[in-house]
Amino acid sequence: MKDNDQEKLPFVVAITGASGAIYGLRLLQYLLESGQPVDLLLSKAAQRVMKEEHDLELGNEVESKLLAYLKLPQAVPLKLHPLNDYGASVASGSYRTMGMVVLPCSLGSLGALAAGLTENLIHRAAAVTLKERRKLMVVVREMPFGHIQLKNMLSLSEAGAIVACASPGFYHRPESVGDQIDFVVGRVLDQFDFDNKLFKRWKEDSRPLVQSPRQNH
Ligand SMILES: Cc1cc2nc3c(=O)[nH]c(=O)nc-3n(C[C@H](O)[C@H](O)[C@H](O)COP(=O)(O)O)c2cc1C
Repeated sequence: MKDNDQEKLPFVVAITGASGAIYGLRLLQYLLESGQPVDLLLSKAAQRVMKEEHDLELGNEVESKLLAYLKLPQAVPLKLHPLNDYGASVASGSYRTMGMVVLPCSLGSLGALAAGLTENLIHRAAAVTLKERRKLMVVVREMPFGHIQLKNMLSLSEAGAIVACASPGFYHRPESVGDQIDFVVGRVLDQFDFDNKLFKRWKEDSRPLVQSPRQNH
């Protein structure tokens, strides 16, 4: 990370109920492994998706189960906030953060954020991030998009958010799904000037192209 005052500020990470919970989990793991303090917000639907995609049942021990799943010690600088706690630190603009990312972002949360709703703490924290003119990144996972979602993305972008799709590239010659996930997470971290070596950058030394199964025939 850059050597400046922002170094010690917490990063607000929200994981919502779009497919691709692994993106949010990997981001969380990388940040905490790097010693970066994280304020974490998890929607109910995100927990449902984690169960579907990872057989990960968080139940009432969300924090400890998450850390065990991510193979992280309990002592990492993680603060999990209940989504109905409007008295949480991240609900106030006076609580300084280095910004917020919603990864992955469902279409439902996208709509709420675009409309400025505050029906849960994810919405409130995002609205606060925008009003404080801090960086908010929203990484949507869906295909295709309807007109309403496209308009919501435009609204958020006009309001100052960085809007992206969870859309891994191929120019870094990925060899695994893990490489693809790290590409997306790395590009998210780039937006926050958070130094990372999660993927090979353009013009870094190249790897041989991965052969698709069809090329082997
Ligand atoms: C397994 C599973 C996968 C889902 N994938 C997506 C998705 O990729 N994109 C999306 O917008 N919603 C998806 N949904 C639906 C959302 O979870 C649902 O709209 C929910 O209300 C979102 O709530 P949240 O934004 O508070 O997390 C999925 C749901 C399930 C159970």
